[in-house]
Amino acid sequence: MRLIRSLKHSSGARTSKGLLDAKKIMLGIGLKKGDVVLDAGCGNGFFAIEAGAIIKNSGTVYAIDSSMEAHEFLRRDIAQKNITYVRPICADISTGIPVDSAIIDAALLVNVLRGLADNNEEKRALKEIYRALKPGGLLGIVDAQSKLPVEDVIKVVTPYCFKLKKQFEAGPWHYCLVFNKI
Ligand SMILES: C[S@@+](CC[C@H](N)C(=O)[O-])C[C@H]1O[C@@H](n2cnc3c(N)ncnc32)[C@H](O)[C@@H]1O
Repeated sequence: MRLIRSLKHSSGARTSKGLLDAKKIMLGIGLKKGDVVLDAGCGNGFFAIEAGAIIKNSGTVYAIDSSMEAHEFLRRDIAQKNITYVRPICADISTGIPVDSAIIDAALLVNVLRGLADNNEEKRALKEIYRALKPGGLLGIVDAQSKLPVEDVIKVVTPYCFKLKKQFEAGPWHYCLVFNKI
């Protein structure tokens, strides 16, 4: 897998805001009302917050990032906006995702997998995501073809008992791959 050094966007921001239409992508992945969602490597929480429009009041988003700076940003942001469906957690997804097993309907890795691969963390993170997902649960991976080719993602992800369900264009430079836990 191609190695990319930075875990941030080229702008230095920990967010895909302005680059991607989060709601459209999450609907494409298959998120629905009442879902329990894992936003793994959530950054500033752009996708986690936008998920509220889909999961409505009955769902939850576990928004996990290893950066304390990103975690604190999200904690302050949701407090200001009175958002209760997002649960921010500061943790390294490759050493353990602090949620019970088989509780997640849909997991997101948005512009995160290439950084994990760079640090050889992708295998442990995929195992943890697999554990957290319900049987048949969805894993949506969004990344840029120029930075992490689709073929590489499929090669890395499918050995961890994920089956490719569909793929679609997520933006001018980005694709989205949707896998099922099998
Ligand atoms: C490019 S940003 C993307 C943020 C967000 N997903 C988005 O698209 O708006 C990548 C994020 O992944 C986080 N990250 C990288 N490795 C991680 C790990 N092992 N555990 C948790 N978060 C991680 C980084 O701290 C960073 O906030």
